[in-house]
Amino acid sequence: MTKFYHITTYGCQMNVHESEKIAGILSELGYESCQNIEDADIAVFNTCCIRENAENHAFGNIGMLKKLKRNKKDMIIAVGGCLTQQIGKADVLHEKFPYVDIIFGTHNLNKLKDFILKKQKQKKAVIEVEESEGAICEDEKPLRTSYPNAWINITYGCNNFCSYCIVPYVRGRERSRRSENIIKEAEQIISKGYKEITLLGQNVNSYANGTDDISFPELLRRVAAIDGKFRLRFMTSHPKDFSEELAKAIAENPKICHSVHLPVQSGSNAVLKAMNRKYTVEDYLKKVEILKRYVPDCTLTTDLIVGFPNETDEDFEDTLRFVEKVGYSSAFTYVYSKREGTVAAKMDGQIPEEISKSRIMRLIELVNSQTRSQSTHYVGKTVEILCEDFDKKKGLYQGRDEYGRMAYFACEKNAIGEFVTLKIKEANGISLYGEII
Ligand code: SAH
Ligand code: SF4
Ligand code: F3S
Repeated sequence: MTKFYHITTYGCQMNVHESEKIAGILSELGYESCQNIEDADIAVFNTCCIRENAENHAFGNIGMLKKLKRNKKDMIIAVGGCLTQQIGKADVLHEKFPYVDIIFGTHNLNKLKDFILKKQKQKKAVIEVEESEGAICEDEKPLRTSYPNAWINITYGCNNFCSYCIVPYVRGRERSRRSENIIKEAEQIISKGYKEITLLGQNVNSYANGTDDISFPELLRRVAAIDGKFRLRFMTSHPKDFSEELAKAIAENPKICHSVHLPVQSGSNAVLKAMNRKYTVEDYLKKVEILKRYVPDCTLTTDLIVGFPNETDEDFEDTLRFVEKVGYSSAFTYVYSKREGTVAAKMDGQIPEEISKSRIMRLIELVNSQTRSQSTHYVGKTVEILCEDFDKKKGLYQGRDEYGRMAYFACEKNAIGEFVTLKIKEANGISLYGEII
Protein backbone atom coordinates (compact mmCIF):
# COMPACT_ATOMS: atom_id res chain seq x y z
CA MET A 1 0.00 0.00 0.00
CA THR A 2 1.29 3.46 -0.89
CA LYS A 3 2.01 5.77 2.01
CA PHE A 4 1.31 9.48 1.61
CA TYR A 5 2.79 12.63 3.09
CA HIS A 6 1.61 16.22 3.36
CA ILE A 7 3.81 19.16 4.35
CA THR A 8 2.47 22.53 5.53
CA THR A 9 5.09 25.26 5.21
CA TYR A 10 5.17 28.63 6.93
CA GLY A 11 7.71 31.45 6.74
CA CYS A 12 10.46 32.44 4.39
CA GLN A 13 11.93 30.97 1.22
CA MET A 14 14.50 29.18 3.30
CA ASN A 15 11.70 27.30 5.03
CA VAL A 16 10.01 26.56 1.72
CA HIS A 17 13.29 25.05 0.56
CA GLU A 18 13.68 23.14 3.81
CA SER A 19 10.27 21.61 3.18
CA GLU A 20 11.76 20.33 -0.09
CA LYS A 21 14.49 18.69 1.99
CA ILE A 22 11.83 17.15 4.26
CA ALA A 23 10.02 15.90 1.13
CA GLY A 24 13.32 14.32 0.03
CA ILE A 25 13.60 12.45 3.32
CA LEU A 26 9.98 11.28 3.19
CA SER A 27 10.25 10.06 -0.39
CA GLU A 28 13.39 8.12 0.53
CA LEU A 29 11.24 6.39 3.16
CA GLY A 30 8.76 5.42 0.44
CA TYR A 31 6.11 8.09 1.01
CA GLU A 32 4.42 9.93 -1.85
CA SER A 33 3.08 13.47 -1.70
CA CYS A 34 -0.67 14.10 -1.49
CA GLN A 35 -2.77 17.25 -1.80
CA ASN A 36 -5.13 16.74 1.14
CA ILE A 37 -3.90 16.38 4.68
CA GLU A 38 -6.82 13.97 5.34
CA ASP A 39 -5.21 11.42 3.00
CA ALA A 40 -1.76 11.63 4.58
CA ASP A 41 -0.09 8.89 6.62
CA ILE A 42 2.39 11.47 7.80
CA ALA A 43 1.75 15.21 8.12
CA VAL A 44 4.67 17.56 8.71
CA PHE A 45 4.32 21.18 9.82
CA ASN A 46 7.41 23.22 9.01
CA THR A 47 6.82 26.25 11.20
CA CYS A 48 7.92 29.89 11.44
CA CYS A 49 7.97 32.30 14.38
CA ILE A 50 9.20 35.53 12.81
CA ARG A 51 6.00 37.31 13.91
CA GLU A 52 3.25 36.39 16.34
CA ASN A 53 0.73 35.73 13.56
CA ALA A 54 3.03 33.14 11.93
CA GLU A 55 3.13 31.33 15.23
CA ASN A 56 -0.63 31.55 15.78
CA HIS A 57 -1.28 30.25 12.30
CA ALA A 58 0.78 27.12 12.94
CA PHE A 59 -0.77 26.55 16.37
CA GLY A 60 -4.25 26.90 14.85
CA ASN A 61 -3.60 24.39 12.07
CA ILE A 62 -1.94 21.83 14.34
CA GLY A 63 -4.93 22.18 16.68
CA MET A 64 -7.31 21.35 13.85
CA LEU A 65 -5.70 17.95 13.36
CA LYS A 66 -6.92 16.62 16.72
CA LYS A 67 -10.11 15.19 15.25
CA LEU A 68 -8.41 13.70 12.22
CA LYS A 69 -5.84 11.99 14.41
CA ARG A 70 -8.61 10.54 16.60
CA ASN A 71 -10.09 8.77 13.56
CA LYS A 72 -6.75 7.93 12.02
CA LYS A 73 -4.67 6.65 14.90
CA ASP A 74 -1.72 5.44 12.79
CA MET A 75 -1.17 8.82 11.18
CA ILE A 76 2.11 10.43 12.23
CA ILE A 77 2.09 14.16 12.94
CA ALA A 78 5.49 15.86 13.03
CA VAL A 79 6.22 19.50 13.83
CA GLY A 80 9.55 21.17 13.10
CA GLY A 81 11.03 24.51 12.07
CA CYS A 82 11.75 27.79 13.79
CA LEU A 83 8.80 27.73 16.20
CA THR A 84 9.84 24.45 17.81
CA GLN A 85 13.44 25.63 18.04
CA GLN A 86 12.56 28.40 20.54
CA ILE A 87 13.65 27.53 24.04
CA GLY A 88 10.87 25.72 25.90
CA LYS A 89 8.47 25.68 22.91
CA ALA A 90 8.72 21.92 22.33
CA ASP A 91 7.34 21.29 25.83
CA VAL A 92 4.57 23.85 25.35
CA LEU A 93 3.63 22.16 22.07
CA HIS A 94 3.71 18.69 23.58
CA GLU A 95 1.47 19.73 26.43
CA LYS A 96 -0.98 21.60 24.23
CA PHE A 97 -1.09 18.98 21.47
CA PRO A 98 -0.29 15.58 23.05
CA TYR A 99 -1.30 13.85 19.80
CA VAL A 100 1.72 15.31 17.96
CA ASP A 101 4.11 12.36 17.45
CA ILE A 102 7.40 14.03 16.54
CA ILE A 103 8.81 17.43 17.47
CA PHE A 104 12.15 18.38 15.91
CA GLY A 105 14.05 21.64 15.45
CA THR A 106 15.92 23.54 12.75
CA HIS A 107 19.31 22.07 13.70
CA ASN A 108 18.35 18.41 13.28
CA LEU A 109 16.06 18.38 10.27
CA ASN A 110 18.44 15.95 8.55
CA LYS A 111 17.71 13.38 11.26
CA LEU A 112 13.98 13.32 10.58
CA LYS A 113 14.25 9.87 9.02
CA ASP A 114 15.60 8.44 12.31
CA PHE A 115 12.85 10.18 14.27
CA ILE A 116 10.16 8.67 12.06
CA LEU A 117 11.67 5.18 12.34
CA LYS A 118 11.91 5.61 16.11
CA LYS A 119 8.29 6.73 16.35
CA GLN A 120 7.13 3.73 14.34
CA LYS A 121 8.64 1.52 17.06
CA GLN A 122 7.43 3.36 20.15
CA LYS A 123 4.15 4.75 21.46
CA LYS A 124 5.70 7.73 23.20
CA ALA A 125 6.20 10.99 21.30
CA VAL A 126 9.68 11.64 19.92
CA ILE A 127 10.83 15.06 21.10
CA GLU A 128 14.22 16.02 19.74
CA VAL A 129 15.31 19.64 19.61
CA GLU A 130 19.03 20.33 19.67
CA GLU A 131 20.25 23.52 21.29
CA SER A 132 23.38 24.04 19.24
CA GLU A 133 23.63 24.19 15.48
CA GLY A 134 26.40 21.64 14.86
CA ALA A 135 28.07 21.10 11.49
CA ILE A 136 26.42 21.82 8.16
CA CYS A 137 24.92 18.83 6.41
CA GLU A 138 26.25 18.94 2.83
CA ASP A 139 24.63 15.83 1.40
CA GLU A 140 20.97 16.77 1.48
CA LYS A 141 18.75 15.50 -1.31
CA PRO A 142 15.85 17.94 -1.65
CA LEU A 143 12.83 16.91 -3.67
CA ARG A 144 12.44 20.13 -5.60
CA THR A 145 8.88 21.23 -6.23
CA SER A 146 9.35 24.66 -7.74
CA TYR A 147 10.49 24.00 -11.30
CA PRO A 148 11.80 26.03 -13.15
CA ASN A 149 13.15 27.77 -10.03
CA ALA A 150 15.58 26.13 -7.63
CA TRP A 151 16.83 27.34 -4.28
CA ILE A 152 20.28 26.65 -2.89
CA ASN A 153 21.27 27.38 0.69
CA ILE A 154 24.66 29.04 0.88
CA THR A 155 24.61 30.12 4.52
CA TYR A 156 22.66 29.08 7.59
CA GLY A 157 21.99 31.15 10.71
CA CYS A 158 22.66 34.79 11.42
CA ASN A 159 25.10 36.80 13.54
CA ASN A 160 23.46 40.18 13.24
CA PHE A 161 21.06 40.23 16.16
CA CYS A 162 18.80 42.99 14.87
CA SER A 163 17.04 43.89 18.08
CA TYR A 164 13.55 42.85 16.90
CA CYS A 165 14.49 39.55 15.28
CA ILE A 166 14.20 35.99 16.53
CA VAL A 167 16.14 34.39 13.67
CA PRO A 168 19.60 34.35 15.36
CA TYR A 169 18.01 32.53 18.31
CA VAL A 170 16.26 29.85 16.27
CA ARG A 171 18.77 29.41 13.45
CA GLY A 172 22.02 29.70 15.39
CA ARG A 173 25.28 31.35 14.33
CA GLU A 174 26.11 31.99 10.71
CA ARG A 175 27.73 29.05 8.92
CA SER A 176 28.65 28.96 5.22
CA ARG A 177 28.63 25.95 2.96
CA ARG A 178 31.79 25.19 1.00
CA SER A 179 31.74 26.90 -2.38
CA GLU A 180 32.68 23.71 -4.26
CA ASN A 181 29.55 21.99 -2.91
CA ILE A 182 27.36 24.96 -3.84
CA ILE A 183 28.78 25.06 -7.37
CA LYS A 184 28.35 21.30 -7.78
CA GLU A 185 24.72 21.56 -6.66
CA ALA A 186 24.14 24.44 -9.10
CA GLU A 187 25.66 22.44 -11.97
CA GLN A 188 23.40 19.49 -11.21
CA ILE A 189 20.34 21.75 -11.07
CA ILE A 190 21.13 23.35 -14.42
CA SER A 191 21.84 19.99 -16.02
CA LYS A 192 18.35 18.88 -14.94
CA GLY A 193 16.85 21.79 -16.88
CA TYR A 194 16.15 24.35 -14.16
CA LYS A 195 16.16 27.93 -15.45
CA GLU A 196 16.56 30.00 -12.31
CA ILE A 197 18.71 29.60 -9.22
CA THR A 198 18.27 31.65 -6.04
CA LEU A 199 21.12 31.52 -3.55
CA LEU A 200 19.71 31.72 -0.04
CA GLY A 201 21.06 33.03 3.25
CA GLN A 202 19.99 35.47 5.97
CA ASN A 203 22.86 37.72 4.95
CA VAL A 204 24.42 36.43 1.74
CA ASN A 205 26.94 39.29 1.63
CA SER A 206 28.82 37.91 4.58
CA TYR A 207 29.17 34.50 2.91
CA ALA A 208 32.36 32.66 4.01
CA ASN A 209 33.45 35.57 6.23
CA GLY A 210 36.44 34.60 8.32
CA THR A 211 37.14 31.40 6.33
CA ASP A 212 39.56 30.58 3.51
CA ASP A 213 36.71 30.17 1.01
CA ILE A 214 35.87 32.58 -1.83
CA SER A 215 33.80 35.76 -1.28
CA PHE A 216 30.13 36.10 -2.19
CA PRO A 217 30.75 38.14 -5.38
CA GLU A 218 33.25 35.47 -6.50
CA LEU A 219 30.73 32.72 -5.72
CA LEU A 220 28.17 34.56 -7.87
CA ARG A 221 30.68 34.81 -10.72
CA ARG A 222 31.45 31.08 -10.56
CA VAL A 223 27.80 30.03 -10.48
CA ALA A 224 27.03 32.45 -13.33
CA ALA A 225 29.87 30.85 -15.32
CA ILE A 226 28.04 27.50 -15.49
CA ASP A 227 27.03 26.73 -19.08
CA GLY A 228 23.42 27.14 -20.16
CA LYS A 229 20.74 29.81 -20.17
CA PHE A 230 19.49 30.52 -16.69
CA ARG A 231 18.88 33.34 -14.24
CA LEU A 232 20.73 33.83 -11.01
CA ARG A 233 19.23 35.58 -7.97
CA PHE A 234 20.21 35.84 -4.34
CA MET A 235 18.65 36.85 -1.05
CA THR A 236 18.93 38.41 1.45
CA SER A 237 21.50 41.17 1.15
CA HIS A 238 22.19 43.05 4.35
CA PRO A 239 22.85 46.71 3.45
CA LYS A 240 25.78 47.00 5.87
CA ASP A 241 27.71 44.33 3.95
CA PHE A 242 26.68 45.32 0.41
CA SER A 243 29.94 45.96 -1.45
CA GLU A 244 31.13 47.62 -4.64
CA GLU A 245 32.57 44.22 -5.61
CA LEU A 246 29.05 42.79 -5.52
CA ALA A 247 27.71 45.61 -7.72
CA LYS A 248 30.53 44.86 -10.20
CA ALA A 249 29.73 41.13 -10.21
CA ILE A 250 26.08 41.91 -11.03
CA ALA A 251 27.11 44.27 -13.82
CA GLU A 252 29.58 41.84 -15.38
CA ASN A 253 27.42 38.73 -15.51
CA PRO A 254 24.28 38.87 -17.66
CA LYS A 255 22.82 35.84 -15.87
CA ILE A 256 22.62 37.72 -12.56
CA CYS A 257 19.26 39.47 -12.43
CA HIS A 258 19.18 43.25 -12.17
CA SER A 259 16.98 43.18 -9.13
CA VAL A 260 18.23 43.28 -5.56
CA HIS A 261 16.33 42.73 -2.34
CA LEU A 262 17.86 45.16 0.13
CA PRO A 263 15.82 45.38 3.35
CA VAL A 264 16.01 48.84 4.88
CA GLN A 265 13.44 48.27 7.71
CA SER A 266 13.07 52.00 8.49
CA GLY A 267 13.86 55.40 7.00
CA SER A 268 14.71 56.94 10.38
CA ASN A 269 18.24 56.87 11.78
CA ALA A 270 16.98 56.80 15.36
CA VAL A 271 14.88 53.70 14.64
CA LEU A 272 17.68 52.02 12.64
CA LYS A 273 20.00 52.52 15.59
CA ALA A 274 17.50 51.06 18.04
CA MET A 275 17.01 48.15 15.63
CA ASN A 276 20.80 47.53 15.69
CA ARG A 277 20.92 47.51 11.90
CA LYS A 278 24.43 49.02 11.85
CA TYR A 279 23.83 51.48 8.99
CA THR A 280 22.23 54.90 8.59
CA VAL A 281 19.87 56.02 5.84
CA GLU A 282 22.84 57.90 4.36
CA ASP A 283 24.94 54.69 4.31
CA TYR A 284 22.07 52.86 2.64
CA LEU A 285 21.65 55.55 -0.03
CA LYS A 286 25.37 55.40 -0.72
CA LYS A 287 25.10 51.65 -1.37
CA VAL A 288 22.17 52.26 -3.72
CA GLU A 289 24.21 54.87 -5.52
CA ILE A 290 27.12 52.41 -5.96
CA LEU A 291 24.76 49.72 -7.22
CA LYS A 292 23.15 52.08 -9.75
CA ARG A 293 26.55 53.36 -10.89
CA TYR A 294 27.41 49.84 -12.09
CA VAL A 295 23.90 48.59 -12.84
CA PRO A 296 21.80 51.64 -13.79
CA ASP A 297 18.63 49.65 -14.54
CA CYS A 298 18.78 47.64 -11.30
CA THR A 299 15.49 47.63 -9.40
CA LEU A 300 15.25 47.38 -5.64
CA THR A 301 12.82 45.67 -3.33
CA THR A 302 12.82 45.93 0.45
CA ASP A 303 11.38 44.96 3.82
CA LEU A 304 9.88 47.58 6.13
CA ILE A 305 8.73 47.43 9.73
CA VAL A 306 6.35 49.98 11.27
CA GLY A 307 5.54 50.41 14.95
CA PHE A 308 8.98 49.53 16.30
CA PRO A 309 9.19 50.63 19.97
CA ASN A 310 9.38 54.42 20.31
CA GLU A 311 8.82 55.05 16.58
CA THR A 312 7.45 58.60 16.45
CA ASP A 313 5.16 60.09 13.81
CA GLU A 314 8.21 61.94 12.50
CA ASP A 315 10.21 58.67 12.25
CA PHE A 316 7.37 57.14 10.31
CA GLU A 317 7.10 60.15 7.98
CA ASP A 318 10.85 59.73 7.36
CA THR A 319 10.19 56.13 6.30
CA LEU A 320 7.50 57.29 3.85
CA ARG A 321 9.83 59.92 2.39
CA PHE A 322 12.63 57.37 2.14
CA VAL A 323 10.46 54.84 0.30
CA GLU A 324 9.51 57.57 -2.17
CA LYS A 325 13.11 58.60 -2.65
CA VAL A 326 14.46 55.10 -3.38
CA GLY A 327 11.47 54.20 -5.58
CA TYR A 328 11.28 50.50 -4.69
CA SER A 329 9.62 48.27 -7.27
CA SER A 330 7.88 46.48 -4.41
CA ALA A 331 8.20 45.97 -0.67
CA PHE A 332 7.17 43.62 2.10
CA THR A 333 5.64 45.67 4.90
CA TYR A 334 5.22 44.41 8.44
CA VAL A 335 3.83 45.62 11.74
CA TYR A 336 6.46 45.14 14.43
CA SER A 337 5.75 42.00 16.44
CA LYS A 338 7.24 41.56 19.89
CA ARG A 339 9.36 38.39 20.03
CA GLU A 340 10.17 36.99 23.46
CA GLY A 341 13.89 36.81 24.13
CA THR A 342 14.90 39.62 21.74
CA VAL A 343 16.35 42.94 22.92
CA ALA A 344 13.43 44.98 21.55
CA ALA A 345 10.91 42.93 23.54
CA LYS A 346 12.30 44.51 26.70
CA MET A 347 12.15 48.08 25.37
CA ASP A 348 9.75 50.63 26.81
CA GLY A 349 7.63 52.56 24.37
CA GLN A 350 5.79 49.71 22.62
CA ILE A 351 3.47 51.31 20.05
CA PRO A 352 -0.32 50.85 20.40
CA GLU A 353 -1.87 48.60 17.76
CA GLU A 354 -4.18 51.31 16.33
CA ILE A 355 -1.21 53.54 15.58
CA SER A 356 0.80 50.73 13.95
CA LYS A 357 -2.24 49.75 11.90
CA SER A 358 -2.84 53.23 10.58
CA ARG A 359 0.87 53.57 9.77
CA ILE A 360 1.03 50.31 7.87
CA MET A 361 -2.07 51.21 5.85
CA ARG A 362 -0.42 54.44 4.72
CA LEU A 363 2.82 52.64 3.93
CA ILE A 364 1.10 49.90 1.92
CA GLU A 365 -0.80 52.54 -0.02
CA LEU A 366 2.43 54.32 -0.92
CA VAL A 367 4.27 51.12 -1.88
CA ASN A 368 1.35 49.95 -4.02
CA SER A 369 1.01 53.27 -5.77
CA GLN A 370 4.70 53.18 -6.65
CA THR A 371 4.44 49.62 -7.95
CA ARG A 372 1.35 50.52 -9.99
CA SER A 373 2.91 53.58 -11.53
CA GLN A 374 6.04 51.60 -12.48
CA SER A 375 3.78 48.99 -14.10
CA THR A 376 2.29 51.53 -16.48
CA HIS A 377 5.77 52.25 -17.87
CA TYR A 378 5.91 48.67 -19.14
CA VAL A 379 3.01 49.08 -21.57
CA GLY A 380 4.26 48.86 -25.17
CA LYS A 381 7.64 47.48 -24.07
CA THR A 382 9.15 44.10 -24.91
CA VAL A 383 10.22 41.90 -21.98
CA GLU A 384 11.72 38.46 -21.56
CA ILE A 385 9.71 36.28 -19.21
CA LEU A 386 10.61 33.00 -17.60
CA CYS A 387 7.33 31.11 -17.54
CA GLU A 388 6.75 29.57 -14.09
CA ASP A 389 3.19 28.36 -13.94
CA PHE A 390 -0.28 28.24 -15.43
CA ASP A 391 -2.90 30.35 -13.65
CA LYS A 392 -6.04 28.22 -13.81
CA LYS A 393 -8.38 31.07 -12.80
CA LYS A 394 -7.09 33.41 -15.48
CA GLY A 395 -6.51 30.63 -18.01
CA LEU A 396 -3.11 32.21 -18.73
CA TYR A 397 0.52 31.30 -18.27
CA GLN A 398 2.51 33.40 -15.84
CA GLY A 399 6.14 34.26 -15.33
CA ARG A 400 8.50 37.00 -14.27
CA ASP A 401 10.96 39.26 -15.97
CA GLU A 402 14.46 39.61 -14.53
CA TYR A 403 13.26 42.49 -12.34
CA GLY A 404 10.75 40.18 -10.70
CA ARG A 405 7.65 41.69 -12.36
CA MET A 406 4.83 39.19 -12.95
CA ALA A 407 3.37 38.97 -16.45
CA TYR A 408 0.52 36.85 -17.86
CA PHE A 409 0.12 35.59 -21.40
CA ALA A 410 -1.71 33.04 -23.54
CA CYS A 411 0.14 30.19 -25.18
CA GLU A 412 -1.05 27.12 -27.06
CA LYS A 413 1.63 24.78 -25.80
CA ASN A 414 2.96 24.20 -22.30
CA ALA A 415 5.33 27.11 -21.72
CA ILE A 416 6.43 26.31 -18.15
CA GLY A 417 10.21 26.49 -17.95
CA GLU A 418 10.52 28.41 -21.23
CA PHE A 419 11.90 31.89 -21.78
CA VAL A 420 9.37 33.82 -23.86
CA THR A 421 9.42 37.33 -25.25
CA LEU A 422 6.28 39.34 -24.62
CA LYS A 423 4.97 42.64 -25.87
CA ILE A 424 3.20 44.19 -22.88
CA LYS A 425 -0.32 45.28 -23.80
CA GLU A 426 -1.78 46.15 -20.44
CA ALA A 427 -0.76 46.90 -16.87
CA ASN A 428 -3.29 46.10 -14.21
CA GLY A 429 -2.09 47.05 -10.72
CA ILE A 430 1.05 45.08 -10.15
CA SER A 431 0.47 42.57 -12.96
CA LEU A 432 1.31 42.90 -16.62
CA TYR A 433 -0.49 41.28 -19.56
CA GLY A 434 1.26 40.62 -22.83
CA GLU A 435 1.39 38.69 -26.08
CA ILE A 436 4.16 36.42 -27.27
CA ILE A 437 6.14 37.94 -30.15
N1 SAH B 1 17.77 38.21 7.03
C1 SAH B 1 16.85 39.02 6.39
C2 SAH B 1 15.43 38.94 6.86
C3 SAH B 1 14.85 37.78 7.52
S1 SAH B 1 13.31 38.01 8.26
C4 SAH B 1 17.28 40.46 6.55
O1 SAH B 1 18.01 40.82 7.43
O2 SAH B 1 16.80 41.26 5.78
C5 SAH B 1 12.36 38.83 7.01
C6 SAH B 1 11.80 40.14 7.43
O3 SAH B 1 10.89 39.97 8.50
C7 SAH B 1 12.80 41.14 7.98
O4 SAH B 1 13.50 41.80 6.96
C8 SAH B 1 11.91 42.08 8.76
O5 SAH B 1 11.41 43.11 7.96
C9 SAH B 1 10.76 41.19 9.20
N2 SAH B 1 10.80 40.92 10.64
C10 SAH B 1 11.73 40.26 11.33
N3 SAH B 1 11.42 40.24 12.65
C11 SAH B 1 10.26 40.93 12.79
C12 SAH B 1 9.44 41.29 13.90
N4 SAH B 1 9.76 40.94 15.14
N5 SAH B 1 8.31 41.99 13.66
C13 SAH B 1 7.98 42.37 12.39
N6 SAH B 1 8.72 42.06 11.32
C14 SAH B 1 9.85 41.36 11.50
FE1 SF4 C 1 17.04 38.89 11.53
FE2 SF4 C 1 18.67 40.93 11.21
FE3 SF4 C 1 19.57 38.45 10.93
FE4 SF4 C 1 17.94 39.45 9.12
S1 SF4 C 1 19.99 40.21 9.59
S2 SF4 C 1 17.80 37.44 10.05
S3 SF4 C 1 16.60 40.73 10.33
S4 SF4 C 1 18.83 39.38 12.81
FE1 F3S D 1 12.29 31.95 8.09
FE2 F3S D 1 10.37 32.28 9.83
FE3 F3S D 1 12.48 30.94 10.50
S1 F3S D 1 11.06 33.77 8.40
S2 F3S D 1 14.16 31.72 9.30
S3 F3S D 1 10.98 30.39 8.93
S4 F3S D 1 11.40 32.35 11.79
